[in-house]
Amino acid sequence: MLCRELRLRWRTCTLRLLALCLAALLCTHFSAELRRKSLSQPGLLVREPPKEPGAELYNRRLEEVPSKRQVIYVRRSSGSSSSKGTSQAGVHRRDTLQPARWHIDLQPWAGHSRSLEEEARRFLHYITTSQIACSRLVTNGLTDHLVDTQKPWTVCLDNKFSLVHQIRSKQCRVYSLGLGEEENIFEFSMASGGCEVHRFDPSLPSAHIHEAERLWHHRLSVDWRDPNPAIAPHRLHSNTKKLKTILNEFGHWKIDVLKADMESAEWKILENLILEGIIEQIGQLVLEIHLHWPGFEVSGNDSSVVRYWYSLFKELEHKDFKLFYSYKDFSKPQLFLKKDVFNASSCYILSWINTKWT
Ligand SMILES: *[C@@H]1O[C@H](CO)[C@@H](O)[C@H](O)[C@H]1NC(C)=O
Ligand SMILES: *[C@@H]1O[C@H](CO)[C@@H](O)[C@H](O)[C@H]1NC(C)=O
Repeated sequence: MLCRELRLRWRTCTLRLLALCLAALLCTHFSAELRRKSLSQPGLLVREPPKEPGAELYNRRLEEVPSKRQVIYVRRSSGSSSSKGTSQAGVHRRDTLQPARWHIDLQPWAGHSRSLEEEARRFLHYITTSQIACSRLVTNGLTDHLVDTQKPWTVCLDNKFSLVHQIRSKQCRVYSLGLGEEENIFEFSMASGGCEVHRFDPSLPSAHIHEAERLWHHRLSVDWRDPNPAIAPHRLHSNTKKLKTILNEFGHWKIDVLKADMESAEWKILENLILEGIIEQIGQLVLEIHLHWPGFEVSGNDSSVVRYWYSLFKELEHKDFKLFYSYKDFSKPQLFLKKDVFNASSCYILSWINTKWT
């Protein structure tokens, strides 16, 4: 008896609660609707006359802001745990979508006067000071016999870094970017040492050449932008693509060694790799840099140019790239931005290792 009464009371209680909730819900819905309508009819919202001519607009802007903020999507990978299993040697695939960047972060000026001398001193010190020790530097590939080459393309095969292990397990991939005038000793020897080597050379007679078991040549040159879609493909004389596009088309997502000799296009290409997050897919970077002029599409006075170069390398450092090798080319003109100053060469070969790859 008592039990039944209790149950009855409980039921009415919940019913009332439900009704109350419903009323509250309807109330908020209507008020929201009213507000939305009043926003589209500005006269309704403004009860007091605006004090200043701009105040009304300002108030409406303030009201509108939160509704815009709600449209933020956070994209997450669903398979981040499964991809871990398939990744090789602790290399993690970037699954998270990173926000697009439009420019690199410029470093503060080297000094108050913003002079070329201060910028050059800082930059030259940076490119001639190694940041990490490598106990096994290997120049021009993996063959033991010494070859006399003009340029010492150098990688690090220290056991504490992954490249040597990737080579042993034949899971190593090398990309070589050039303009077709270089010797290929590095590429041949990396291929015969067990790496899959892709050489990009716009001067090839055919689109793809499979030269040796692990050596491919592609008639492509790497650029910092894709071709203008307004130009019909048959009118494009050269085939240039961004590295990101090439990686997507080839179905590759990592490059153990990226070697590049781009004759002063290296700055904009490096910038593009940083801005698009491609740099994180690279294990070692071997780059020839050219200092006799600012480079393609690099503008500004001399101190701004050197500050920009320096800022690119600082971006690399923030991505955990450490410089382990620096070579000053004495065979090239000893010029720095067209001037015979600072005891600098116009050409250096630099090698970095991505320390996040181990
Ligand atoms: C170079 O240009 C920057 C701004 O673009 C300016 O702040 C700086 O003073 C200039 N430096 C020299 C040495 O003219
Ligand atoms: C110029 O640099 C080289 C090494 O890069 C060094 O051996 C030489 O002593 C330097 N000369 C001067 C005048 O500083």
